[in-house]
Amino acid sequence: MDLAYLAKMPQQEFTNRRESVFEQMQDNSALLIFTETEKRRNSDSEYLFRPDSHFWYLTGFAEPKSAMLLVKKEGKTESIIFVRKKDPLMETWNGRRLGIENAPNALQFNAAFDIDDIQHILAKKLENLTACYYARGLQSWGDNILFSTFDNMVENRKKVPNTLIDWQPMLSEMRLIKSELEIALIQQACHISSMAHIRAMKQTRPNRYELEIEGEIQYEFSRFGARFPAYNSIVAGGENACILHYNENDQPLKEGDLLLIDAGAEFAYYAGDITRTFPVSGKFSTPQKELYDLTLKMQTEAIKLLVPNSSIKAANDKAVQILTEGLVELGILKGNVEELIEQKAYRQFYMHGLGHWLGLDVHDVGDYGNERDRPLQIGMVLTVEPGIYIPKDADVPEQYKGIGIRIEDNLLITEYGNKNLTSGCPKEIEDIEQIMQSA
Ligand code: GLY
Ligand code: MN
Ligand code: MN
Repeated sequence: MDLAYLAKMPQQEFTNRRESVFEQMQDNSALLIFTETEKRRNSDSEYLFRPDSHFWYLTGFAEPKSAMLLVKKEGKTESIIFVRKKDPLMETWNGRRLGIENAPNALQFNAAFDIDDIQHILAKKLENLTACYYARGLQSWGDNILFSTFDNMVENRKKVPNTLIDWQPMLSEMRLIKSELEIALIQQACHISSMAHIRAMKQTRPNRYELEIEGEIQYEFSRFGARFPAYNSIVAGGENACILHYNENDQPLKEGDLLLIDAGAEFAYYAGDITRTFPVSGKFSTPQKELYDLTLKMQTEAIKLLVPNSSIKAANDKAVQILTEGLVELGILKGNVEELIEQKAYRQFYMHGLGHWLGLDVHDVGDYGNERDRPLQIGMVLTVEPGIYIPKDADVPEQYKGIGIRIEDNLLITEYGNKNLTSGCPKEIEDIEQIMQSA
């Protein structure tokens, strides 16, 4: 394990991304991005800090209360970073700061300024520009700074940029197609996540609590250098699996129930996102097996269609066809398959999408097209996560009530089709049972 991976991120990658942004900016414009500030949890305790994904993507800088300004004027470009100044007393209490003097060299920026002087610098840099790229509503502290800067400029009879352009579509499109370095980091997040699920399978027993298994997962993440989960881990025994974002994780596991775990590591700020569902006792019952096989078939057939120029929609249509046929066969739905699909009868048992983009954010940025029909391209990374959830009070044969199943993998779209980045995590019934029983 190399915990220094973040310090070793090649700055050139971030610089190249800023170059690409400069190329897309119109002349006589500036682009401004803030990161997050630290957030109070209670009293004088804070949540552990994690930078804004867009800001990280363009700077590789992970300190709170920072901002980045790119200026393109008369064909010339200037990159500026605003950071907290060094402060020995604060650093003794709360940790090291890069500081203004070190920032330009360390981060390959033209200049750095004190974040506390940002209004003053902005007023100078934005004067007489025609456009400002800015995403309003993401960080209120950033909105306050920019719009009070504009107010001050107007009061002082300075010309403010009269066009505000949202930079989100531009940056989201860039982030949607992953670079080789990004793919390597996501692969590592997926690898760590796979290990954690295998550990969970081995550690699960009747009467252990959901949160104990969550702890086993977190331990495996930490062991491989991922301090954070990419999202709150879902460890849902029995019918808790029918609550899609269940996160109480406080119930004992019951013999005879399934356990659904949706957990992914965040490695170097990149997310893995895996779901596995397995029996608490180590052996699937017949009704559990029937629904599991159906979910797995939806997933394996969908994966075959998640290839260049196909779409999430095409794959989901196939999954829905398989699901509806399967539910009719099991007596859970009654009627004609085509009519049931038309009526979306399956929605009561499969109420979420097939998958989403994956990257710096677990639900990553990027346009999906109409009804998720955007053609897939090489370099995209996405999840494929069909599920079947039968509530306890559903009007279905008794043996299926209270069962929730989801199987989720992460795919990279490649010239050959796709690569399953989470194939190290077992999902065939025999493999899961074998791992659990050998533990
Ligand atoms: N873990 C959130 C999701 O699967 O989308
Ligand atoms: Mn998930
Ligand atoms: Mn997901």
